[in-house]
Parts: sequence; structure tokens; C-alpha cells
Amino acid sequence: MIEIRNVQTIFGLKQNLSLESQQDTIIDADNLTLLPALIDPHVHFRTPGLEYKEDWYTAAKASIAGGYTTVFDMPNTIPPTITAELLQEKNAIIKKQLQEVDIPLRYQLFFGADKAHLNEIYRVKNAIIGIKVFMGCSTGNMVIDDDSSLHAVFAIAARLNLIVAVHAEDEHLIKERKKQFSGNTDYQIHSQIRNRDVAVRAVEKAIQIAKIYQTKLYILHTSTLDEIQLIKQAKQENVPVFAETTPHHLFLNQTAYQELAGKAVMNPPLRVAADQAALFEAIQNNIIDTIGSDHAPHTHAEKEKPYGECPSGVPGIETTLPLLLNAHQQGMLSLERIVQLTSTRAREIFNLPETEDFVLVDLNKEKTVDNAKLHTKCAWSPFHGMKLQGWPVYTILKQRVFEVG
Ligand code: DOR
Ligand code: ZN
Repeated sequence: MIEIRNVQTIFGLKQNLSLESQQDTIIDADNLTLLPALIDPHVHFRTPGLEYKEDWYTAAKASIAGGYTTVFDMPNTIPPTITAELLQEKNAIIKKQLQEVDIPLRYQLFFGADKAHLNEIYRVKNAIIGIKVFMGCSTGNMVIDDDSSLHAVFAIAARLNLIVAVHAEDEHLIKERKKQFSGNTDYQIHSQIRNRDVAVRAVEKAIQIAKIYQTKLYILHTSTLDEIQLIKQAKQENVPVFAETTPHHLFLNQTAYQELAGKAVMNPPLRVAADQAALFEAIQNNIIDTIGSDHAPHTHAEKEKPYGECPSGVPGIETTLPLLLNAHQQGMLSLERIVQLTSTRAREIFNLPETEDFVLVDLNKEKTVDNAKLHTKCAWSPFHGMKLQGWPVYTILKQRVFEVG
């Protein structure tokens, strides 16, 4: 039995809680607040093929440390997850790694849409959380850049009642703008090449196609005011569209290039302060449904490469909850909304069963994000050095208590 004594609910009530368990644990939770454990609908844990960046040994530890007990992993690995066999192989490796590290992390896999393998979707339909479509190239160079393939994916997904998660950046515009800005080696040029039009054009198209087939559409990493307006309109028209944003788009903007250089490079790129404000407003107005960390680790050495060679992406699963709790402490976000963004909505949108996984957080605990203390294999964070108030202390996964703080 796990006994949690005197814990505070998000509404400020004190309660005692007993959970079934093989383990007998008593947690004196007098200074702690109980939240459902987090669901991260968007991670890149790099298995198979890119395990020098991350694997499920380190990623599982990082997830638990961050208060997460469920993750949805992306298909842009080597090889990419685009056939039933590759999906099966990936599952086998993950299961083995989780068993060896003895962390029974709950996970789901996105299946990669690939022009040459669209029929594979029928074979994997019951084994996946959804279909991932890269409308623009990112790490891994997976892309669906023609309208007829895009229509085909959305039509198949609707028929099978699968959700389509889109990386909404327009590949044609990216290519055009890359040429236009070629020779420029400043990292911040990344935000100009992949400017807001690049995202807006793709989001507009994805919504338009979802509307035709009534496909459930999940827009990954929403980063601009303009996308929010399109999503708001689509929601008003009852298009089945859902929106995610990321901690880096909420808490960083283009001024970060100065200090972070290549470590501020990700897709979609950092935007301006007005976009951050619009994302927070969209959270208040329920236009944004979820927060995905888009945990996308790359090594230090890779991120120090010059612009053009430096890969896009930042790790995030260990810092997302503290960043949100810190924003709560600053009056920017209610605990109720944090719970919806980090678990309830994902459970509803992706149809996941309820669990008895929890995270106990200390809302007053102050700690500085420190590269040296992270569990992710890449061992860096764009938030290194940031002092945050509000940290997870215990994560409870499948009736097991993990002390994390
Ligand atoms: O910044 C990003 N990194 N964006 C993506 O779309 C992919 C990700 C990665 O896998 O590194
Ligand atoms: Zn991603």
C-alpha cells in the first residue's frame, strides 16, 4: 500500500490517499500537491539508430524525473518507423531497454506517413497512437510535400479513425527561403528562413484537408499568433482540430539566440514576444489543448556546429513541469489548466484509459536548472541556469514510487 498523507489537491484541500501497491510506502506529503502524472504527446527518444543522442534507459529516467509516466514517441529515427515490421522492431527494442532499466514507462508510438508506404497504415492501425506527417523537413528528412499524398493520408486516417499529427511547416517555402538567405551563417537566420508564413501556410492547408475528410487533426508545436487565429476559426467551425504548444515556444523567444547560439535552433523556430503572449492567451481561451515537450536531444558537439550543420531540436521533458509550475507561481497559469494541458486533454484527444499514476510536487521548492544534474543523455538544456520555483518530488508509476526531488 502507498499511503500519501496530508497531500494538497490542486484546489487547496488536504486529503489522505491510499493506493494499491506491492511496496509499503508512507509519504508525508504535508508540503506537497498532487497532480495526475504527466502525458507527453510529443517526444523523440531516438531509438533506433540515434541512440548516441538518447535511448530509453536515459529517456525513461528523464521522464520520471520530469513527472511524466506516459510518452508518445515520434517516428523520425534511423530507420524511420514507416512499416509494420519497423514498428515491431522498434517496440521490441524499447521494451527491452525499459525492462533493463526497470522503469515500466507507458508509451505509445506515432507511425510515420511515407509516400511509398501509405498502405502500411492499414497494417498498423491498432498498434499506433496516430500518424505523424512532416509537411516540412526536419531531423530525419521525412516529408510529405505534395498535396495528393497529403490528401491520401488524411483520407485513410479518417476512414480508420486515426488522428493525424502534423509538423506544419511548408516544405516548398522553406526551400525557397533557404536559397534566399543562403550564405548567412548567423543562427538567428533560422527564424527568418522558417518564418511565420512557413508555418501558417502549412497549418492552413492541414486544416483545409482535415475539413474535407473530417480527419482528427493534431497540430504539433503551435508557435505563432497567426496559427492560433486559424486554429480558433477551425474550432469554431467544428473541424476536429487540436493544438499543442511547447515549453520552448512559451518560455523562450528569438532573443535567446544571443546566449544559446545553436542550442536555440529548433523546428519550428523561436518567435517573438508577441507570439509568446498569444500562446499564453490561447492557453487561457482553450485554443491550445496540450503541451508537448518536443524533447529532441542532440549532442553538445552537434549543437556547436555552424548554422546549416547544427541539427534542430532541444531536450525538454525534465524541465517542462518546473517551467509550468514556476509560471503558476508567477500568476500566469492555474494548476487546473496545467493539469488539463499536461494530462487530461491528451487523454481525451488520444482516447487513453485513466491511470492511478501521480506526481507529487513541491510548489515552493526553488532549484536552478543544471545541465550536470539532468538525466537525458545529451546533458544540456536551453533553460540551464534558470531558477525555477515548483518541482516534482515523487512520481508514481504503476503502483511504484520514484523519489525524484
Ligand atoms: O526541432 C526539431 N527537432 N523539430 C523537429 O521537427 C524534429 C526534432 C528532432 O527530431 O530533432
Ligand atoms: Zn518533434
